[in-house]
Amino acid sequence: MHCRSCEMSLKPFMSFGQQPIANGFIESSAIGNEYFYELEVAVCPGCGLFQLVTQPDAGMMFHKNYAFFSKSSKGMQRHFSAFADYVRQNFLTSASPFVVEIGSNDGILLQNFADWNIAHLGIEPSQNVFEEAKRNGVETLCAFFSEDTSDKVCDQYGKADAIISANVICHIPDINSVAKGIVKLLKPEGVFIFEDPYLGDVVGKTSYDQIYDEHVFLFCVGSVKNIFEKFGLTLLDVLPQTTHGGSMRYVLGRQQYHEISDNVQKQIAKETALGLSLDSTYDAFRNNCEKSRADLVKLLTELKAKKKKVVGYAATSKSTTVLNYCNIGSDLIDFISDTSPEKQNKLSPGKHIPVKSHDEFVANYPDYAVLFAWNHEAEIKSKEKRFEESGGQWVHFVPDVRIDEPIQ
Ligand code: SAH
Ligand code: TMP
Ligand code: ZN
Repeated sequence: MHCRSCEMSLKPFMSFGQQPIANGFIESSAIGNEYFYELEVAVCPGCGLFQLVTQPDAGMMFHKNYAFFSKSSKGMQRHFSAFADYVRQNFLTSASPFVVEIGSNDGILLQNFADWNIAHLGIEPSQNVFEEAKRNGVETLCAFFSEDTSDKVCDQYGKADAIISANVICHIPDINSVAKGIVKLLKPEGVFIFEDPYLGDVVGKTSYDQIYDEHVFLFCVGSVKNIFEKFGLTLLDVLPQTTHGGSMRYVLGRQQYHEISDNVQKQIAKETALGLSLDSTYDAFRNNCEKSRADLVKLLTELKAKKKKVVGYAATSKSTTVLNYCNIGSDLIDFISDTSPEKQNKLSPGKHIPVKSHDEFVANYPDYAVLFAWNHEAEIKSKEKRFEESGGQWVHFVPDVRIDEPIQ
């Protein structure tokens, strides 16, 4: 196995065991036919890139029925409206700018540019979310981004002032093809701005649930510099984000047209202090994951022994890693409540916990709810006050396994 960026040979430092497709919610008739692969992770000794050893084929994850619609979170809608403002104010200075987004999903981010009448194009391979974007007037091409797609977009639409992306670049295994495609598609002074879950947060919070099939990479400032600088794109700025439990926004462009912010060196110093390139850091991370697993199973087993009703809140892709790594099934969690109709009345990948509508959660509040969508905690707690008033308590597992104190 070799690094997907620099081709140095890789040695996995831990395995999360056999895992199904994280967003592969199934009908009961499909039990027995599920695809599993071993979820092993490694950090490249050459370029520092954190990556999965094997990733299932893209067509198994991104297809006509992708289970995740970005607009399902109000908090993310606000985040993306602020992201669009940031891009427009800082980088769209030409008379008639053109913005391309990679992995635009249902149009949550590009909708802002469409509303401002700014020329834009989304590149989105999953048919159902692509169609939703088109319905809302967001110009979108149904394709996987790669160097080839970039050539086609250049021919048909011309070059971009800004290429933007959120929670997508970490999904694309051929990162060198992505980099080459971006270099071709950007105007000379154009910028590439992307954000993704940040390795420093995953290591710092033991949020190992960010590791699943779709996330083939977890980036940090050091690895992003190494990946893109060999293609002539300089890292100009880095801006930490609170989304998805801690993300990083990276701004890249050709050095002769831009200044480099001090933020880049400051963040690299933080990564050195965190030990993001040391083997010992990942040995400690593995130990922390094992402790988190033992603590969560112990807690849920105790609650069950006390005859408490425990459900899961939000059937996130992240929860697939947790449930399968910890071997938690419907013996410990009755069902998982989720607002996405695509997941409801199906079974969770691998462990086959029933997924039910949010109405079922409200109709009969449980004693405990495991907060799988912990990255949306503020949004969820504000809309679920009645659950807490009914005596319900949240179970958390990031950064530690714990139960919220009941409200008085
Ligand atoms: N940007 C959205 C969606 C993130 S989910 C948000 O932040 O909410 C990841 C998206 O990337 C999915 O919609 C998936 O279909 C898309 N995707 C996966 N591989 C891709 C590729 N090679 N090129 C473009 N999009 C891709
Ligand atoms: P993700 O973490 O894989 O992006 O998926 C988020 C899932 O969480 C999605 O299926 C919708 C669900 N969800 C809820 O059920 N309730 C909520 O309040 C939020 C924010 C998300
Ligand atoms: Zn490498």
